[in-house]
Amino acid sequence: MGHDYFQLTNKVCVVTGAASGIGLATANLLAEVGSKVVLLDINEESGKKAADDLNKQGFSAQFIKCDVTKSEDCQSVHQQLEEEYGKVDVLFNNAGIIRRKNVVDLEEHDWDLVVDVSLKGVYLLSKYLIPLMAANGGGSIINTGSGWGLKGGDQAAAYCAAKAGVVNLTKAMAIDHGPQNIRVNCICPGDTDTPLLRDEAKQLNLQEDAFLTSSGADRPLARIGTPRDIANGVLFLASELASWVTGTELVVDGGGLA
Ligand SMILES: NC(=O)c1ccc[n+]([C@@H]2O[C@H](COP(=O)([O-])OP(=O)(O)OC[C@H]3O[C@@H](n4cnc5c(N)ncnc54)[C@H](O)[C@@H]3O)[C@@H](O)[C@H]2O)c1
Repeated sequence: MGHDYFQLTNKVCVVTGAASGIGLATANLLAEVGSKVVLLDINEESGKKAADDLNKQGFSAQFIKCDVTKSEDCQSVHQQLEEEYGKVDVLFNNAGIIRRKNVVDLEEHDWDLVVDVSLKGVYLLSKYLIPLMAANGGGSIINTGSGWGLKGGDQAAAYCAAKAGVVNLTKAMAIDHGPQNIRVNCICPGDTDTPLLRDEAKQLNLQEDAFLTSSGADRPLARIGTPRDIANGVLFLASELASWVTGTELVVDGGGLA
């Protein structure tokens, strides 16, 4: 198959949570296939460095500080994109955080934070960017769910709730915006080696290496994922190869859910 099917030359691709892990790997991959990548994150230092690294390699990247839980930040991103590019082709709503607690132990502010970043953030940025996408003929939105948006998991009540919300919000958005030629899909990663996963070991008071090994062990492919494994799935959903794919979830988890 020709490599060109995955080219996104001059497409404007927006990635949230782009300073680390899955978002960073995806921003890098989207830049490599020719798009103009806009990296959004609350972590200004790492986000700027990621964009600088890409520009030094001759790719096109820009960092904008954006807290996806803040309406004013999302509105400001819309204004900047409209002025600088006049369009947005791909939106990867990926920012997310996890708190490994059950409902009894979870503090209310942590519930709010997890749901606000992982679920409300998808709503907010989409609210402000969909009109720009629609005005330019459509595009592709990919939301980051999780295996734990499709099944339950232990000690992660708010996260499971938020991610299940993302899965069904994806379907609702696909129905509403299909007529504007906007495809909306969800990527559901299994355990992937990122700072978020390593932090879970800390939250659970487990030894990091043992936690990572056990997270990979019971999967058919017997390893945890790399951020690039997930980025590859996002690229498929962003590309024209997925031209009739909308309202669904792509599970990328080494067979864990199987
Ligand atoms: N790593 C895994 O095993 C795994 C599995 C399933 C799903 N996910 C999901 O993948 C996504 C990316 O996670 P990751 O593992 O790469 O984590 P990560 O911690 O490496 O990266 C998350 C990024 O999101 C940013 N962020 C946090 N709050 C934000 C906010 N309010 N606004 C903007 N940016 C914000 C962080 O600064 C960070 O750069 C998350 O939605 C996560 O829930 C991860």
